[in-house]
Amino acid sequence: MSKININKSWKYDESLESTSHIKLKDKYDLFIGGEFVKPLSKKYFNTLNPATNQSIAEIADANDKDIDKAVKSARKAFNSWSKLDPKERGKYIFRIARMIQERAKEFAVIESIDGGKPIRESRDIDIPLAANHFFYHAGWADKLEYAFPNKKPTPLGVAGQIIPWNFPLLMAAWKIAPAIACGNTVVLKPAESTSLTALKLAELIQDSGLPKGVVNIVTGAGKTGAAIVNHPDINKIAFTGSTEVGKLIERSLAGIEKKTTLELGGKGANIIFEDAAIDQAVEGIVNAIFFNQGHVCCAGSRLFIQESVADIVIEKLKDRISTLIVGDPLDKNTDIGAINSVEQLKTIEKYIEIGKKEGGEIYQSKCSLPKKGNWCPPTLFLNVSQSHTIVQEEIFGPVLAIQTFRTIDEVIEKANNTPFGLSAGVWTEKGSKIFRLTKELNAGVVWANTYNKFDPSSPFGGFKESGMGREGGLHGLKSYLKFE
Ligand code: NAI
Ligand code: MG
Repeated sequence: MSKININKSWKYDESLESTSHIKLKDKYDLFIGGEFVKPLSKKYFNTLNPATNQSIAEIADANDKDIDKAVKSARKAFNSWSKLDPKERGKYIFRIARMIQERAKEFAVIESIDGGKPIRESRDIDIPLAANHFFYHAGWADKLEYAFPNKKPTPLGVAGQIIPWNFPLLMAAWKIAPAIACGNTVVLKPAESTSLTALKLAELIQDSGLPKGVVNIVTGAGKTGAAIVNHPDINKIAFTGSTEVGKLIERSLAGIEKKTTLELGGKGANIIFEDAAIDQAVEGIVNAIFFNQGHVCCAGSRLFIQESVADIVIEKLKDRISTLIVGDPLDKNTDIGAINSVEQLKTIEKYIEIGKKEGGEIYQSKCSLPKKGNWCPPTLFLNVSQSHTIVQEEIFGPVLAIQTFRTIDEVIEKANNTPFGLSAGVWTEKGSKIFRLTKELNAGVVWANTYNKFDPSSPFGGFKESGMGREGGLHGLKSYLKFE
């Protein structure tokens, strides 16, 4: 086996993204009926910068009455929005997409300040993809009859949408764009630790001239989310978040005529065969688990390496992670930013302790970490097996559980032995192996020789405890329509 010789002496100078172009208010109200209005609750909470844990702004904490007001505004707007010439609907959505592109730099910086993700990711992935979701769905607005021929698609009504903190603007786009393209109106709630880009989107929507009340953005935590779920005049609930809350939502909607899509947790298997291009696979492993600090529902958090190449892959992986830079999200050289909240850091640290206690062999990069803020170095666990807690449960952090396998049958069985079924990755030169695995892995998306690639035209969603329904593409449109 060849010894790897990586030059570890590279030093990067600080390369901070400027913040001079961003405009933030000290206090954000609720966006209802096209206006920013004070919450009837009269309550606000702080959103923090996870790289410093200092407050950035105050955010309104909506109660049941605020939600009722937002739903009423969405219902009123539905009457005219659903009847508007679909071509006109499309034009508004195109305009929103273009305006996101124009303000991309501001969105990217705010996303990184509020949520902790590296600026390189918010700049190159989150914000462009958010714009793409609006572009893609704008195109569908006047073509729904072609998408579903002979079926007479009509909108559902008011959609209540609840999103998580890992991809704040992208998830907002993912939810709003298909809903309004189909003629629905929405009440959307961002996650409490990352409301700012959704509120900036509200400002943009106001500037775009979108008819008032078509998009309402309300802020708050779990209680506010529950008020949306339980509001009687909502026709559809779209939720992305933890499996735990997904189950709660399903329980409270049982027997009620509300369409539901749930995009929940995951424990993706990333499978490396001996015939894979090893260096590319190592990059793929890094991207699969360390992208967005591992706060990714489809993260490749379980690695399976074919035994014959396990030593070389692990050696190269250890070397590679020692070069990853953990630190200031606004530095363009940063690979791994801040963990989104103190609570999430505690969860990750709890899992690392469990991993060690249950006998896993831990390997962590010795990178330097900033003094203030929430940080976790890239972490590998070796010598773990299917029964280990860290192999079974979603950690949602930069922690990878590594196992080996000998045969294709064995790895299929191991990969499917999980309560989740959201994503997987396969690395091999052989097309036949790819086809067999895409067929037999119980996962909503299987990437071949790549990982974490997203496109608005491609349906996304899971099996088992990863949720139900699909978002994106034709499948995603379908869940915002009814058919006569
Ligand atoms: P969460 O599921 O509590 O939060 C997601 C969203 O749901 C937020 O907007 C939150 O305010 C809202 N929410 C919370 N309780 C609700 C309720 N009873 N009814 C309606 N809405 C409610 O996720 P949390 O607590 O922030 O993270 C915990 C774990 O969940 C993470 O460690 C991770 O494993 C998983 N998670 C998975 C995500 C995914 O994309 N699959 C996203 C976020 C978290
Ligand atoms: Mg925050």
